[in-house]
Amino acid sequence: MKNKEKIESGVHVLPPLPYAECALDTVISANTVSFHYGKHHKGYVDNLNKLVAGTEFEQMTIEKIIAATAGKADKAAIFNNSAQVWNHTFYWCSLKPKGGGEPPAALKKKLEADFGTLDSCKKELAAAATTQFGSGWAWLVLDGGKLKAVKTGNADCPLTKGMKPLLNIDVWEHAYYLDYQNRRADYVSAVLDKLINWDFAAANLLKK
Ligand SMILES: [Fe+2]
Repeated sequence: MKNKEKIESGVHVLPPLPYAECALDTVISANTVSFHYGKHHKGYVDNLNKLVAGTEFEQMTIEKIIAATAGKADKAAIFNNSAQVWNHTFYWCSLKPKGGGEPPAALKKKLEADFGTLDSCKKELAAAATTQFGSGWAWLVLDGGKLKAVKTGNADCPLTKGMKPLLNIDVWEHAYYLDYQNRRADYVSAVLDKLINWDFAAANLLKK
């Protein structure tokens, strides 16, 4: 990921947004991005730093913390905050100003092989996003060599299920409520048409 979390002096830092807070405002207002990034994403980073201070997790990367705490009831708070840090950093990279449109050729070919058409892929992503009950995420993933649209609840992340995430869409209410109130489907549709960053997905597909 472009803005990968760094560990500086044992402290996880909030990565910079890849664009200005107002850059997505054809779909997501600067006000929403300001709260989402500056309060929610930052809050997960701050909570994680408090939770791991002085523990075996303090010097681990975010990915290692997620792997080490997934499914462990006594480590749920560390898992939730580390996964939400990762999920949000991934989300900001999954969007871009003037996104949407046509994916790069190699990704488009793979999308058409696995979903039939680009439109079918977008419909499956929209269905995953709108049918996630309560808070969570929709994802385009590579699973067993095949591209799939999947959903996860709360902080859960496909990394813990052996899948390779290519992009995600945050469907927690904090991602859209100020702009769209209860109209999650309208937010998801606008994101897929105007913001989704197919270049990021294409780059993730090529990663080992
Ligand atoms: Fe969020």
